[in-house]
Amino acid sequence: MKTYNIAAIPGDGIGPEVMDGSLKVLAAAQQAFGFALQLTKYEAGAQHYLQTGELWGPELAEQLRGHEAILFGAMGDPAVEPGILERGFILAMRQEFEQAVNLRPVKLYPGVATPIAGLTPERCDLVIVRENTEGAYVGQGSTIHANTEHTVAVQESVNTRAGITRVVEYSFKLAASRRGKLTLCHKKNILIEAGKLWQEVVTQVGARYPQVEVDYVHVDAMCFHLPVAPERFDVVVTDNLFGDIITDLGAVIQGGLGVAASANLNLDGSAPSMFEAIHGSAPDIAGKGWANPVGAILSAAMLLAHLGETQAALAIESAAVHVLGELPVLAGPDMGMDTAGIAEAIALQVSQDFEKVGGHSVMNSLAEVR
Ligand code: IPM
Ligand code: MG
Repeated sequence: MKTYNIAAIPGDGIGPEVMDGSLKVLAAAQQAFGFALQLTKYEAGAQHYLQTGELWGPELAEQLRGHEAILFGAMGDPAVEPGILERGFILAMRQEFEQAVNLRPVKLYPGVATPIAGLTPERCDLVIVRENTEGAYVGQGSTIHANTEHTVAVQESVNTRAGITRVVEYSFKLAASRRGKLTLCHKKNILIEAGKLWQEVVTQVGARYPQVEVDYVHVDAMCFHLPVAPERFDVVVTDNLFGDIITDLGAVIQGGLGVAASANLNLDGSAPSMFEAIHGSAPDIAGKGWANPVGAILSAAMLLAHLGETQAALAIESAAVHVLGELPVLAGPDMGMDTAGIAEAIALQVSQDFEKVGGHSVMNSLAEVR
């Protein structure tokens, strides 16, 4: 039997409960599809940091490198100053493990309530490819004359040809495997240096993909088009910070942060890829059973697709869509089932042969596009 060696990092807040949900569903998928996951749990996050002072470090990095993929819960806690855990752990992992692509599907599933009036699943089936290691996220900058009337804060954005090229290449391959449309999202009229390089790389790489239609949209205009006309987009490639912002908007359109999933992909096999829901640790609702585990469960399905277990991934996706369709609301105390209940319902249905979800599944893309 095929066996995969997986690291699980539950983290803080609702991280552990949505992780439990994912593990339940993964256990059912192993049974149904005949593969095995060898799971190792790692303690990390606020409690661990407060007790030991440890965040991301060489020892943990070394241990994690020994796994084929990483399933991640969430991190962030009011007991730790904002940013310490996020930058000191999540960004450190994305950067050290060269998880160059942050793949964030924006797909409205049938039966899922969207706040956008009149939006239908056929019109909302796109993928945002967020550059995941550079831009404003490099943490470069300086402050002079701190705490005076004359304080100057400089925050840099670093854009390298190599860093941009790898995500743009990936995006073209992805677009070629889907509807054949790629949109660069930036703000090249204002961020002229970075914008010029991004556009140059898109034009250069695009010459090798004549079958892909290329388009450009400013990030502010994207915030207008995405909710009202998501059908305009197939694959959107963008920088780290713009990607962070427009993927929250994408999450809302597809039913909320509770259902949005993501993959942090290392493209050259030098380190494991990491899979996480795009929601944060939501400490205010932790332990209440109010978190929707579907974002985490779909991320776990993306992990399986990445490993090559595409049928299992597609089955989890269909089962999750089926269960989502039964929930009156998608987060909070009125979901009709609690976090564990939703995960159990999905686990129970993984082996049922539901009709596959229509449109393009990111599960197929993860298996096909490297
Ligand atoms: C995300 C999150 C992270 C980010 C935070 C938690 C560091 O918002 O994955 O979108 O800004 O990338
Ligand atoms: Mg974000």
